[in-house]
Amino acid sequence: MGLSGKLLQIIALPGVVIIIFAIVAAAATVAKPGCPSKCGDVEIPFPFGLSEACFLNKSFNITCQSGKPFTGNVPVRNISIDNHELHVMQWVARDCYKHNNDTNDVPCTPTNTYDRCNDDRDSRVYTNSPSLRLSQYTISNSKNKFTVIGCDTKAYLSGYQNGEWYNIGCSTRCPGLSNMVNGSCSGVGCCELEFPEGLNNISVDVSSFHSHSEVWNFNPCGYAFVVEKDKFNFSTNYLNNYTNTTVPLVLDWAVGNLTCEEAKKEQNSACKENSDCIVRQIKTKQAGYHCKCKQGYKGNPYLQGQGGCQDIDECEHPALNNCTNYCVNGVGNYTCGCPKWYHGDGRKYGEGCSVDLALAIKVSIGIGIGLIAMLGGSSWLFLVLQKRKYIKLKAKLFQQNGGLILERRLRALGSTRKAKIFTFEELKVATKNYRESRIIGRGGFGTVYKGFLPNNTIVAIKKSKTVDPDQVDQFINEIVLLSQIDHKNVVKLLGCCLETQVPLLVYEFVSQGTLFNYIHHEGNTSIKRWETYLRIVAETADALSYLHSLTIIHRDVKPSNILLGANFTAKVSDFGISKLVSHDQKDVATVVQGTLGYLDPEYLQTNQLKEKSDVYSFGVVLVELLTGDDVFSFDRSEDERCLPMYFLFFLKENRMDEILDKRIVEEGNKEQITEVIKLAERCLRVKGDERPSMKELAMELEQIRKIEMHLWVNAQSNLEEAKHLDGVTSNAYENGGSSSTTAGFDSMKDNVMLALGDGR
Ligand SMILES: *[C@@H]1O[C@H](CO)[C@@H](O)[C@H](O)[C@H]1NC(C)=O
Ligand SMILES: *[C@@H]1O[C@H](CO)[C@@H](O)[C@H](O)[C@H]1NC(C)=O
Ligand SMILES: *[C@@H]1O[C@H](CO)[C@@H](O)[C@H](O)[C@H]1NC(C)=O
Repeated sequence: MGLSGKLLQIIALPGVVIIIFAIVAAAATVAKPGCPSKCGDVEIPFPFGLSEACFLNKSFNITCQSGKPFTGNVPVRNISIDNHELHVMQWVARDCYKHNNDTNDVPCTPTNTYDRCNDDRDSRVYTNSPSLRLSQYTISNSKNKFTVIGCDTKAYLSGYQNGEWYNIGCSTRCPGLSNMVNGSCSGVGCCELEFPEGLNNISVDVSSFHSHSEVWNFNPCGYAFVVEKDKFNFSTNYLNNYTNTTVPLVLDWAVGNLTCEEAKKEQNSACKENSDCIVRQIKTKQAGYHCKCKQGYKGNPYLQGQGGCQDIDECEHPALNNCTNYCVNGVGNYTCGCPKWYHGDGRKYGEGCSVDLALAIKVSIGIGIGLIAMLGGSSWLFLVLQKRKYIKLKAKLFQQNGGLILERRLRALGSTRKAKIFTFEELKVATKNYRESRIIGRGGFGTVYKGFLPNNTIVAIKKSKTVDPDQVDQFINEIVLLSQIDHKNVVKLLGCCLETQVPLLVYEFVSQGTLFNYIHHEGNTSIKRWETYLRIVAETADALSYLHSLTIIHRDVKPSNILLGANFTAKVSDFGISKLVSHDQKDVATVVQGTLGYLDPEYLQTNQLKEKSDVYSFGVVLVELLTGDDVFSFDRSEDERCLPMYFLFFLKENRMDEILDKRIVEEGNKEQITEVIKLAERCLRVKGDERPSMKELAMELEQIRKIEMHLWVNAQSNLEEAKHLDGVTSNAYENGGSSSTTAGFDSMKDNVMLALGDGR
């Protein structure tokens, strides 16, 4: 402990004593429940009481007269339970004289029961010999002294100790005030005596040797009394006149006259819970007992329960514990320890407690594991809940998208080729969770992914359209029908996934891109372009004619929807907006669907979709192949911005050779090209009825393919043939009827403008 620690202790010590004293004193002054606790300012704690019901027995009877407590006729100042004391006031014994030459004659007037007037020869004025006859109390020998004042005085204290008579006395004689000291009862003018313990029934007698005749001028009276130590301070003035008639006195009290063991045996010990019985011992004789709360308890040991001995929370009061670091209150005691995470001797200051590293580490590991477990647990729960929610959602979407209807329809189909219902997970695996690198196309229709199924089939996975709840049946019909299509020039629909908001359609994968790319990019020059073109359009016409036979209108025939498989085999695709034609109910679309430039002007006008609309679009594709031009180009004049008009204009003007694609002219068969130009013109007729059907087209294209190849360039000499071609085109044009074509031109122009306007 450092210097500051010691200093602290020194400063704190008196404080500690005061606090303990205050706590203990305050605790013990409790009357019996339901009894008055005070008389005037004086607390009356049990076993004392003001009435039969309130005291333990008659010895503890206190009477309260006009706010002042008395035991018998003795005024009570204070009652202490812990010190088993009774503070009372006791009469002063006095012995006074007058002399003949005394002019101030003092008349004898008795002031109390002990006074008696005595008109004897020695001119004694009066004397009194007070006694204290309270046999239940003894005079505390440690707290009191027998004190005598006077310069011609002798006095006796008599009483009983253990029932035996006892008497002591002290006398003083002095000629004057000269050797006297204020403040101490030194033996000159004042003497004091200790007396033995256990005195009771005392009386005090005071008298003189020579009737104060020699000292009368400064000391007419002698005084004697038993007084509480420290409550009496001698003063020379007292020799002349000690005015106090009573002085404070401390009495000891005890319960009964049995010993603790005897009381215990009789089962009526006054000591209640958590208290110890302490026997009163006078000399060797045991007489009565008092009670004391056990160490660590406070309260009134003579009471049970609330006012009785209760545990002291030593830790609450720094003065009551000697712990410097950490205090733990126990029942009746306390322990000094160290705070959590510390270990050591808690009573030692400073070095006493130190961090318990081992425990701290153990506990933090424990907490860490706990936290991890909690985190793991909650995230597991979260995942489980998410998964359940997710499964529910998938099931809901599946049902919403007509999955149940599709299952039923597929079951009814039996063993024929039919669509497979894919789960979301299967497609997720096939596309490696829709990885960026698997995207093979993007457009207005959404994103197309390349996917690998477990059986190594390569597929294209494509978003369909959101299913209108009212058209679920129709949507499912379409899927069933499309999946049954088995044509080598139609992209196969393998199945679908209905567990997503927007159903996913799974198609066979076509490897060589689109016809559009083939037309507008150079590609492999070693492959004969015209020959390939012819085969592609023939196959396309066959496929479309097959679709028409199933009452399916493609609705969006254009080069980018004609895919090219191995060896440039045509694969007609994009049934995203394909619709079934119902024959009894005209298909009236509210929104014009299709691609600008390929749209049938008649459809634009009537909003009625027919097979012949596909024929028109097919015609545009033929023109695109022939010219290699964009279907819609701002490089051309306003009237010819659309490829069909441009084509028909040049055809009418007999200037076809100006617009034909050089690549095909170089390698193409003139005769075949002429035939295809003728076909294209027929397809582009304004009136649908005047257009050939797909079936006719397919057959005619097959015929054209069989015409022997003559290279356009090699036939340079045959200029007549070129003229003949011009003639044919001109004828074809004239055959079509100039008036109707002109009308078609105008109406087509309007419609395109209309479509453009709508599109904005
Ligand atoms: C009675 O005694 C207690 C201590 O025992 C003391 O605190 C209190 O002041 C005393 N009261 C009187 C009136 O002397
Ligand atoms: C003692 O004190 C009193 C006043 O209290 C004073 O009158 C007297 O002279 C003092 N006596 C001595 C010897 O000092
Ligand atoms: C405190 O009191 C309880 C109950 O009486 C006892 O079991 C315990 O040993 C005591 N502790 C100390 C340090 O005295």
